[in-house]
Amino acid sequence: MPGQTQMGTFATNARPLFTCFGYSNLGLPLNPRDAIFYQTTPDFFGFTANAFGFAFRDLGLGTFLRSGPGSAPNPNSAWVPLAPRMDGRQQVSTIRNVAMTPPQCPTTEAPGPYFQKEFFHNGYIKSLKQLVHFYNTRDKYAYPVTSGHCPSGTTEKVHCWPMPEVPNNIDMTTGNLGLTDQEENQIVAFLQTLTDGFTRPYANIDTFTGFTGTCMSGGTAATQGNGTLIPTPSPLPPCASAICGVAPLPSATIP
Ligand code: HEM
Repeated sequence: MPGQTQMGTFATNARPLFTCFGYSNLGLPLNPRDAIFYQTTPDFFGFTANAFGFAFRDLGLGTFLRSGPGSAPNPNSAWVPLAPRMDGRQQVSTIRNVAMTPPQCPTTEAPGPYFQKEFFHNGYIKSLKQLVHFYNTRDKYAYPVTSGHCPSGTTEKVHCWPMPEVPNNIDMTTGNLGLTDQEENQIVAFLQTLTDGFTRPYANIDTFTGFTGTCMSGGTAATQGNGTLIPTPSPLPPCASAICGVAPLPSATIP
């Protein structure tokens, strides 16, 4: 959470938003549970979300700058040459209220009772413990595999991080932080303090009818959600040329 707030510079009465308002590629693996990979045919409105199936790659800001598939057009042609330096970068989201849950479920973390959330832009991460462990060990436990194919004897998200969906422009200020298990837990506890309670249960009381599901319980936060892992297709189709073959080309081949 770089920067955390603009308060020190100008907005002395602002509430901290806990984002630097920037864009980074954290190196998240392709998540084969992401619905986008299956939305290959027109929906009710004739809209096809992703004609490329598993040849889709989310280049983030790079796709926007190239006015690529699924993106609004880039309004400024002078920005286009920057695309290769922006491939894979996603917006640094606010982490204010990142641990927010429905009132019935006190936490996002197993064993709970917990509310299952997904974190980061593609939902690959299922708990804040996994999120902090990813920042801490992405490069320490890096394997040249896709999700669902970690070597036997390893546990995905614990001692195995599959390769990034977009290997270009990876942020190297994180990835091997040398934190202990306890220090990871302390950061999770900190993230849980960012729930401000101000709009709890939800801001729009007229439309939110209440959480009617049940909380989940059991397991550990480190392996939370691993029961629903599915193998990424193997071999994974290469990135579609309509995404990765558009000028200005990515600085390195995106597999
Ligand atoms: C240990 C330090 C850090 C912690 C605890 C942390 C925590 C978080 C959390 C909780 C989220 C929100 C996830 C969500 O709501 O789905 C997030 C998102 C993000 N953070 Fe960090 N962060 C850290 C360091 C950094 C650094 C140093 C950078 C960039 C240089 C960064 C870039 C991002 C980006 C790009 C996202 C959005 C990623 C996506 O949606 O795929 N973070 N971070």
